[in-house]
Amino acid sequence: MIRQLTRRVVLKFLAACAAFFGFRRSANAQRGPDREPTTVGHWARTNDRVWLGEEFWANPMEDWSIVDGAAECRGSGGNRNIQLLTHSLSDTKQPFSMSVQVKQVQKGPIEGGAGFRIGVRSEIDEYRSNCFAKGGIDAGIVDGNLVLGKTTAKIAIGDDGFDGELKLTGVPAGNRYTLTLTASDGLRDGPIASVRQTVNAAAIRGNVALVNNFDASIRKGRGSRFRFQDWKVSGGAITETPDHRFGPLLWSMYSLSDSRTAGGFVLKLTAFTGPLGVDDLRTVQLQTPRGGVWTTIGEAELDPDAWTATFRIPDWNEKRETPYRVVYWERHPDGSETEHEWTGKIKANPLGRPLRLGALTCQNDYGFPYEPVADNLLKLDPDMLYFSGDQIYENHGGFGIIRDPAEPAILNYLRKFYQFGWSFREAMRDRPTICIPDDHDVFQGNIWGEGGAAMKDLNKGASSKGGYREPARMVNVVHKTNTSHHPDIYDPTPSQQDISVYFGDMVYGNVSFAILGDRQWKSGPEHVETGSGRADHVRDPDFDATALDAKGLVLLGERQEEFLAQWSDDWRGHTMKVLLSQTVFAAVATHHGNYDGYLKADLDSGAWPQTARNRAIDIIRKSKALHINGDQHITTLVQYGVAKQRDSNWSFCTPAISAGYPRWWRPDEVGMEHNNRPRHKRPHTGEYLDGFGNKVYVYGVGNPKVGRDKNRYQKAHEKGSGFGMVTIDTEAKTYKIEAFRFLIDATDGNESNQFPSWPVTIYQRENGGDNVIG
Ligand SMILES: [Fe+2]
Repeated sequence: MIRQLTRRVVLKFLAACAAFFGFRRSANAQRGPDREPTTVGHWARTNDRVWLGEEFWANPMEDWSIVDGAAECRGSGGNRNIQLLTHSLSDTKQPFSMSVQVKQVQKGPIEGGAGFRIGVRSEIDEYRSNCFAKGGIDAGIVDGNLVLGKTTAKIAIGDDGFDGELKLTGVPAGNRYTLTLTASDGLRDGPIASVRQTVNAAAIRGNVALVNNFDASIRKGRGSRFRFQDWKVSGGAITETPDHRFGPLLWSMYSLSDSRTAGGFVLKLTAFTGPLGVDDLRTVQLQTPRGGVWTTIGEAELDPDAWTATFRIPDWNEKRETPYRVVYWERHPDGSETEHEWTGKIKANPLGRPLRLGALTCQNDYGFPYEPVADNLLKLDPDMLYFSGDQIYENHGGFGIIRDPAEPAILNYLRKFYQFGWSFREAMRDRPTICIPDDHDVFQGNIWGEGGAAMKDLNKGASSKGGYREPARMVNVVHKTNTSHHPDIYDPTPSQQDISVYFGDMVYGNVSFAILGDRQWKSGPEHVETGSGRADHVRDPDFDATALDAKGLVLLGERQEEFLAQWSDDWRGHTMKVLLSQTVFAAVATHHGNYDGYLKADLDSGAWPQTARNRAIDIIRKSKALHINGDQHITTLVQYGVAKQRDSNWSFCTPAISAGYPRWWRPDEVGMEHNNRPRHKRPHTGEYLDGFGNKVYVYGVGNPKVGRDKNRYQKAHEKGSGFGMVTIDTEAKTYKIEAFRFLIDATDGNESNQFPSWPVTIYQRENGGDNVIG
């Protein structure tokens, strides 16, 4: 290892720089009608492992493995497939050819077949979104037939199932396209069967894939299993885009914080790989340029559950921007190695100018890969990013969730989480990111963590009870993948079941950001009686929800309250503060789920339990922190009141990146009284008592429309999706708060880019109840 390190470390800086800048090339798409068929990926030269390689997206990842040099489907359900990321069918005036070796390894009750699928295309025809698209043209062997679209031909297959080559070729024919599928078994010369079909030329455009069990309705345990080798593609119809590779270093996230100890500024960076094999190298290196040479400054072990490698580098020179490079050497079975890198830059600590924070939440994958938001982030170039939870939902990527046991549940979680990195990695590579998990990240519709307790009565659903539904080992992977790159934890003592905690702070740009898990200790709704038949919802408008404030109920928990009290008094190294947590400490939604779905009070909100909510605000008042949160799928800007209206901190609940379950705040329609409406006179604003009786001054709200559009981005826009930007000016002592919509160019200055009432600038002192705005 030492020898290798020395050899590797002393790399020529110029060559590395070329690679560094190479990553920023626009997609270097190539076409080549005359090129030889190329084998995609390198399964024959890969150790046995789950992750198939950087050229592929496997649906679902947990059902595939590399076994003895082939991609083998380990699941027997329908529509298991491998999408090719680096090659797509695009030029329908040109021909193409694809071949693959297919071998049946297990025959199921249903012969679901195997082969190719082409023309896999979503409504936005973007390669990542295409990976999850329905439709396309199937071409393969199915139950003794060679099948190409709607055309079939009988084929003689031995008792052990098919073992041979499938070849699909296509040639343009005017506005049509003629496809030919042949099968050979290697025993006889030439094809043993062939079938031909002519289709609309446009139908072939999109992703190409391999499929195991074509029919999506085949249930687990019912279909057959196949293995695939030597997938070759060629022809002018194919566009090759090497930049679409994803891995083995998938992405990285980092934080940079003034520890205010002898360690100075501390960089923490986590790199992600896909799940690797027992014979693969388990270490990753972090390099920065020193004296013109990429130099290793840290080596980290990959966590064999989370597939994360976390570096902690104290005494970081925060005064200058520093390029970095994460390096992984992929070992091949023949002993050779391939070097892979992921690059970015560690920003300089922003001083002498305002700090600009991009604040995001909730990415429901109907809007995947959320390009309008991701692109706006790159254009706005914030100093720092904050994802406040629901980086995934249970339905992410289809194919269901696996709750137990921990190992497959973790793989199932990871491939959903990888969709988050796939969407936002370009923004995250170059700036600190704070990322906290919420309920859906741990496969729960709601979470009242009860200090890490295991959920009881599992057969009664996972969304209306206290505790964690998932195995602690899986929950810890969720915490690790989201937060392992955060600054050191305030008090790392785990909670019940050894579930890890992640509260603490980051001091950056003259600002301290407190990071909470605001539901990790929260009491479950079964401690009280809502009278609605559902433990967490109050539906009766006449129900007195102040009665739900039972004695001893917990919101943040003692440990986090103690941390916040200490943090509110600690002004070392900064002059302004921000509180980052999952949700708003008020019930600022009157309608849930559908437009007329009135709900008086939702115990999932941070409005309950009231006494603990008031105590939390009493603690943070003197911090004069702006609270930035998410979770609600409706953006709001409010000021908390405890003893009286408007005596406490402001809260900005950011728009969802891609809002799923809709909520509205329409108090005027349901007869809730208000006082002191802001000067802008917009409806549903002013001083209210929320459904729990908490005092809240609502200054701005971004009510959504009902989302109906078939285009995912139009639909996300209708549903009130978007993102927040908060500019923290430590000279002027102000927070400028912006709530951007989804389908806009955030840099064109158009007033309608933001929700009504935004942008808003508040003074630091207003978070202590010294009000200016009105
Ligand atoms: Fe959410």
